[in-house]
Amino acid sequence: MSDIVLQIDGKQVTAKKDMTVLEAAKSAGIHIPTLCYDERMEPYGACRLCVVEIEQRGWWRLVVSCVYPVENNLVVKTRSEKIDRIRKTIIELLLAHAPDAFELVDLAKEYGAGRNRFEKEPSFCIHCGLCVRYCAEIKQKFAVGFINRGTKREISFIPEIASKECWDCKECFPLCPTEALQAAFVLARAMSFPALDYDANVKGKQGQILIRLADKKQICSFRRQIHS
Ligand code: SF4
Ligand code: FES
Repeated sequence: MSDIVLQIDGKQVTAKKDMTVLEAAKSAGIHIPTLCYDERMEPYGACRLCVVEIEQRGWWRLVVSCVYPVENNLVVKTRSEKIDRIRKTIIELLLAHAPDAFELVDLAKEYGAGRNRFEKEPSFCIHCGLCVRYCAEIKQKFAVGFINRGTKREISFIPEIASKECWDCKECFPLCPTEALQAAFVLARAMSFPALDYDANVKGKQGQILIRLADKKQICSFRRQIHS
């Protein structure tokens, strides 16, 4: 397969024909922030944080680098005033859903994003789809999926599958940028194994977890402090 030569942040980069701009940048050691990308899975293009600018016929336009394919002579900027402004707004929107998520807090520092710009609506899941895709694409178990649409969109474990498959797996847990996944698993497990104590498996990165209760009629969320 013949190579593609493009320019990223002024650096000449050689990439394989089937690479995306994000993959080409990574291969050249150029960092682009991501929240829904994992090289083991098909690109999803959900978080939009990996937005970059490309030059076409003298005009700059924004593209999502994790799904945009490389082209010969493509000129790419991974940072600019415009890109940073967009990333800042995305981070602020996501912080409204997951105000204490480590990854978001770090990104907020880097991009000067405010934690209180948008009204808080802590649903905790930022819909990156990493857990859902990992379970479907890598494990091929389909134990976790999205339910509902729009603002009511949620992840949910399928108790019938989760009760058989998740107990010895839990490989999707560390993928979750907001730790909402553990909470959903707790719910599924609580439903599937009501007699078990589940605290031991739900410690969050900050000694804090969130437990999300969801059922088809109502959804409520609360945070829970782990005392170690
Ligand atoms: S639970 Fe976590 S990993 Fe799954 S979609 Fe939501 S934010 Fe992403
Ligand atoms: S990493 Fe590209 S859209 Fe999320």
